[in-house]
Amino acid sequence: MKKIAILASGSGSNAENIAKYFEGSDYAQVSFIIANNPNAFVLERAKRLGIESAVVTKSEFMQADSVVAMLKERDIDFVVLAGFLLLVPSKLIQAYPGRIVNIHPALLPKHGGKGMYGDNVHKAVVRCGDTESGITIHLIDEQYDKGTIFFQAKCPVLPTDTYEDVATKVHALEYEHFPRVIDEILHTLD
Ligand code: GAR
Repeated sequence: MKKIAILASGSGSNAENIAKYFEGSDYAQVSFIIANNPNAFVLERAKRLGIESAVVTKSEFMQADSVVAMLKERDIDFVVLAGFLLLVPSKLIQAYPGRIVNIHPALLPKHGGKGMYGDNVHKAVVRCGDTESGITIHLIDEQYDKGTIFFQAKCPVLPTDTYEDVATKVHALEYEHFPRVIDEILHTLD
């Protein structure tokens, strides 16, 4: 059984969707959720789903040793960033080489980088008059939103769309594709 840990900073709707996708699977399961914010709704979702969770401070996370220890103690094979806003430190990347994926709510390399998360991204898409947006699922490296891209899916952005409309379309793509793409990536690992 492959064990997945999810790192999240906010609502955690993707975390819940991924956990439910793997519920009942004999291949993989979400067994641990880490939040960097004690008020993140993802912690409530974890409780409801019966998944162990932990909160780490930003400095603990950036220092990485305790987080790596938490993951290793639980035999975590694979780490998913689902709405996680901190830059992942090298020590954690080195502990899970090629085994940490992120989802970005736009078509990278457009609208990536520090500060580009959640609604900020959708507002930028509307401000730039883009005619399409979408999702990017990528391996992470030491820079925000720069690692190898595994998968992208697109949705149209209409001239009349608000950033909320774009967010709704992008979330729909995330729910449709993210768990399945994680499943595919897991099957490529030894
Ligand atoms: C998602 O749309 C995810 O793509 C985005 O945050 C949202 C979290 O929603 N991630 C980023 O912007 C990372 N740069 P959720 O907490 O409901 O899953």
